[in-house]
Amino acid sequence: MRVYLDNAATTPIDKEVLRTIYEVMESQYGNPSSIHAHGREVRTLIEKARKSVASLLHASPSEFFFTSGGTEADNMAIRCAIIDYGIKHAITSVIEHHAVLHTLQALESCGLIRLSYVNTDDKGTIDYQHLEELLTQNERSFVSLMHANNELGTLTDIERVGELCQKYNAIFHCDTVQSIGHYPHDLSKLKVHFLVCAAHKLHGPKGAGFLYINHKIKISPMIFGGSQERNMRGGTENVYGIAGLAKALEIAYADMEEHHEYIQGLKSYMMQELLKNIPGIEFNGETDPEKSLYTVLNVSFPEMEMAEMLLFSLDISGISASGGSACSSGTNIGSHVLNGIHADPNRPAVRFSFSKYNTREEIDYVVLKLKELCHAEV
Ligand SMILES: Cc1ncc(COP(=O)(O)O)c(C=O)c1O
Repeated sequence: MRVYLDNAATTPIDKEVLRTIYEVMESQYGNPSSIHAHGREVRTLIEKARKSVASLLHASPSEFFFTSGGTEADNMAIRCAIIDYGIKHAITSVIEHHAVLHTLQALESCGLIRLSYVNTDDKGTIDYQHLEELLTQNERSFVSLMHANNELGTLTDIERVGELCQKYNAIFHCDTVQSIGHYPHDLSKLKVHFLVCAAHKLHGPKGAGFLYINHKIKISPMIFGGSQERNMRGGTENVYGIAGLAKALEIAYADMEEHHEYIQGLKSYMMQELLKNIPGIEFNGETDPEKSLYTVLNVSFPEMEMAEMLLFSLDISGISASGGSACSSGTNIGSHVLNGIHADPNRPAVRFSFSKYNTREEIDYVVLKLKELCHAEV
């Protein structure tokens, strides 16, 4: 049996998305910048995709810019807003994705900004009071806080962050890579300036995503070149990726409630079975279904001899998952997220992440294998 429980890393492509991409690849090969019929046909396809994405998120098509994925969209929002608005202070958290952290830290090392880290508790939840203090004590800030943490699943109350940012005139960038397609973001209400999507996290193709830029914000491009994406991103468009992204998002929205319930059921079942079968099991991050991404479960195992080998042993047993532990020595850098919440470095951690394609039988198999591995230790 091979079980894929690494859906926060990437997801298998939906067959319907694949069909869409194949049809576009086969028949719509014109360059969207060409003014002849072949080009116009592809241009129309891109604009239809933009309209579809915009209508699902309750925003205007003119607020969406297709990118190569999450990392590029994060970079574009952060770098361009900070430079164009002359922002001198940014706020983030130590448990953000490296696409955000490394970008902000690069701007800090150039001397462009001062960077403050909002406190997070041992589950990765933002200290909203501290965020308000940071906003009060500093000049106009750029705030970058993710919606769903990719390692822990802990959710941030982005409505609350948006309200605070509005109150203090801050620019709010939210990395929603792990939550778009899983939660219905309503951009007609949410007070956010930038929001990010990567298609491969929602059964779409790799190398395609978008940056939402609220119409109140005006930035210059990060990639200069031709006039694609209304002069905001030079380079011939990834037409297949864009078509696949729009299709994947349509599918995600059509079945969102059903998938939410089904996947949350798998996660709760796995938690229950692990607690029942393996003594000393704990979970990293928030597990309350109201405050936790339903596709991610970060399991903290009891201390064991074969900690370093745990993921490898799972792989040998046919199970794909992701790992990481807190830093246990000077040489072991460990997961910056688990370090950030001060997880016990002696307890190995495995992130299991689910999708609509997983089954209870797979969970039973994984729990059985984990039980065998943990018992072999005793
Ligand atoms: C929270 C978060 N942000 C950004 C990214 C980067 O997205 P991409 O792989 O599309 O560059 C990821 C991917 O793992 C992610 O989980």
